[in-house]
Amino acid sequence: MPQTLERAAGVNKDAEQDFLPLNGTDYVEFYVGNARQAAHFYRTAFGFHLAAYRGPETGTRDRASYVLVQDEIRFVLTTPLQPDHPISDHIRLHGDGVRDIALWVEDAESAWRETTRRGARSVRPPEKLSDGNGEARLASIAAYGDTIHTFVERRNYRGVFLPGFEPAAAEDPLARPAGLKHIDHMVGNVALGEMNRWVAFYRDAMGFKMFKHFDDKDISTEYSALMSKVMSNGNERVKFPINEPAPGKRKSQIEEYLEFYHGPGVQHIAMATDNIIETVGALKRQGIEFLRVPSTYYEDLAARVGRIDEPVGRLQELGILVDRDDEGYMLQIFTRPVEDRPTLFYEVIQRKGSRSFGKGNFKALFEAIEREQARRGNL
Ligand code: FE2
Repeated sequence: MPQTLERAAGVNKDAEQDFLPLNGTDYVEFYVGNARQAAHFYRTAFGFHLAAYRGPETGTRDRASYVLVQDEIRFVLTTPLQPDHPISDHIRLHGDGVRDIALWVEDAESAWRETTRRGARSVRPPEKLSDGNGEARLASIAAYGDTIHTFVERRNYRGVFLPGFEPAAAEDPLARPAGLKHIDHMVGNVALGEMNRWVAFYRDAMGFKMFKHFDDKDISTEYSALMSKVMSNGNERVKFPINEPAPGKRKSQIEEYLEFYHGPGVQHIAMATDNIIETVGALKRQGIEFLRVPSTYYEDLAARVGRIDEPVGRLQELGILVDRDDEGYMLQIFTRPVEDRPTLFYEVIQRKGSRSFGKGNFKALFEAIEREQARRGNL
């Protein structure tokens, strides 16, 4: 194709502009106080299976890591084995939480070079790791708080996860799959006045764009408020809403998070399913606790969202929320915090055309969160 036509078609132009092409989220690594027990929770309650492990038995002396997989979602739970370890400092300050949102790339060195020269702070220069299954390249940059992004290049690696990890048994007797498919989005909470700084970081250093369906207005209840902007990479496989608290009469859920996490960090991870009724039913039976909205929410649901495929009675039994926009609708539900500190929680989401984040549910949802905050004495 002549160059002029190619440009007219936008082919070359987009390729030129995306200096950080991402295949998707590679893994999410959590630093936790007891990875063995946390892995048990994610296997039996959330339905992940143990895919790989590294620790003293495999030659890693300072930490143990469990790799948990459900369809395309990959979590790594890591715990330090000694107190004088940087991971121990992370846990002392934050409690259990997300350390690394790792991104799958074709060229980790290029991803690191292009982002650091646009202002990202390097945490780990490009490094080659290898074992009998080939080689992988990793490099990391800092994001909000103590959160980092690792660029993972695995095109020359055939092993189960990364060099140094050993595969787990083919069958995991603890895993109870719940139909979770992939990560839809991951939300960061940052301090008052910091949202636009991090929006600019994702735009300038990582080439993300403001997602056109973001919820840009103040989101408020009687007591608390927050502001949120959604950043997305070029192919929309990676979406990061960024929240900051807005002044309200009482302490917002974002402020409660920042107080207990001791700084910015990942607030929630949204995991997609093709059948939210089956997935949420399974998760509830397996012990996951979800937020409840009042039954009045369902009284005007049909008037608000129109015809939907799912029986409203069943949605009400499970506490699933629905929102519609001009492209379709989406169903969503939120867990209670999954740790004792009121920090990290999860969302289960099913999209039926809609690419939004459930703006119509924010008020009912935040009031549900505030009832829980009040019970904790944090409102
Ligand atoms: Fe969400």
